[in-house]
Formats: sequence, structure tokens, C-alpha cells
Amino acid sequence: MAHAEDVLSRAPLFEALDEEGARALRAGVVDVRLARGERLFDEGDAGDRLYVILDGKIKLTRTAPDGRENLLSVLGPGEMFGELSLFDPRPRTASAVAVTDSRLAALAHDNLRHWLTGRPDVAMHLLRALAQRLRRANDVMADLVFTDVPGRVAKALLDLADRFGEEQEEGLQVHHDLTQEELAQLVGASRETVNKALADFAARGWLQLSAKSVLILDRERLARRAR
Ligand code: CMP
Repeated sequence: MAHAEDVLSRAPLFEALDEEGARALRAGVVDVRLARGERLFDEGDAGDRLYVILDGKIKLTRTAPDGRENLLSVLGPGEMFGELSLFDPRPRTASAVAVTDSRLAALAHDNLRHWLTGRPDVAMHLLRALAQRLRRANDVMADLVFTDVPGRVAKALLDLADRFGEEQEEGLQVHHDLTQEELAQLVGASRETVNKALADFAARGWLQLSAKSVLILDRERLARRAR
């Protein structure tokens, strides 16, 4: 596990700063610890902070009026969230829940606004992170329209592998820590359909399934199926 300070200095906000700037910004950081399953905030809440994940995994979800959940993303160390209500001061656009025990750095929006006006390089880094999020959201939307469920499952697994994958002799071990229900919410399909796709990939020898984790054996074939 990387040291929390290193994780923070590699986050988009801090990347642009020299040591003195990073120290000044870090002075306003508040440490937040969450236990697995704990909610940090809910969609619709007023938001006055941005968070950088130091350790653990956070899921961002939206709930439909009938109670169904859509999992927008699962974020890991070095990634940030809670910036939309910084640039556009309105309620939180999603709920944030800890998938595993997690440690976060919280930065007050008021404090950050001061940095954004005084340091265009910091603002550029944050804008880049925002642009990347929009690109990804566009890809996800296009996949919902153009790609079948097995293709979306393959893509979701590769996306989780990019974040949480660990190279091992047998393959790429991905401890995603998601239940089957959460995987289905991430793909935007029923649990049965997602399970069927996973079982099919396993039968073809592309991966091995275990609880809350998957061992990817044939990344190439999985990537081809994701296209
Ligand atoms: P905010 O609206 O302040 O609080 C919820 C956060 O979830 C939001 O800021 C973003 O940081 C994050 N978020 C919202 N939509 C997405 C998305 N589609 N993909 C990844 N993160 C998102």
C-alpha cells in the first residue's frame, strides 16, 4: 500500500504544485475515515468539500424513484470526487459510500476556490480531471446504447482491472470488492444477465471467479469482447 502522503501528492489537485504550495494546501486537509458500508454523503445533500481517496474504495451511486440503484463509478486511491458542487454550487449529484474501509482527505470548497483563482495551473489540472470524467461518462452512455451486456461486463472488468488489478503469475488479480448486485448496477443490467456473461467468460477460460474478486487469465480476448 502506498504511503498516504504520496497518494495525495500524485492526485490531480496537488500534481501542479511545488513543495511549498503542496504544504500550504495540505494544511487545510481534514482526514476522514469510513468503515465498509458507511455513507459519506447522499445525492441531493448540500456539498462543501472535495475528497481525495488515500486508501480504500468508494462507490458513487444514484437511486431511481423506484429504488433501483445505478453505480456510476468505483474510485480508488489517488482519485477525487465531490468537485461538481465546487464548480457548480448545487446539491451533490450522487451518493458516496465506502465499499471497503477507507481513508480520505477532505478539502473545503471555499479554501479551494482561493487556489483556483490564484493558481491557473492547479485549475488546469482539475479541469483535465473533469474532462476525463466527461469522456468516460460519454463512453459509458454510448456503451449502454450500442454494446450488449457481455461487452459491457468485459469493459467494466477491464476498467476495474486498470484501477485495482495486481499482476500475478497466473494472471491479473482484481479485488473489486463488489457484490454481484453491485457489479450488475455498474453494468446497468440485471444480476441474472451479468452472472450469465461472467459464467460464460469463465467457461471459455478467460477468467476465474471468486467472491468479490476476479482473476483475469486472458486480457486480450476480454478486451476484444469489450469492443
Ligand atoms: P458532487 O456532485 O459534488 O458529489 C458527487 C460526486 O460524484 C460528483 O461531485 C463527482 O465528483 C462524482 N460523479 C458524479 N457523476 C460521476 C460520473 N458519471 N462518474 C464519476 N464520478 C461522478
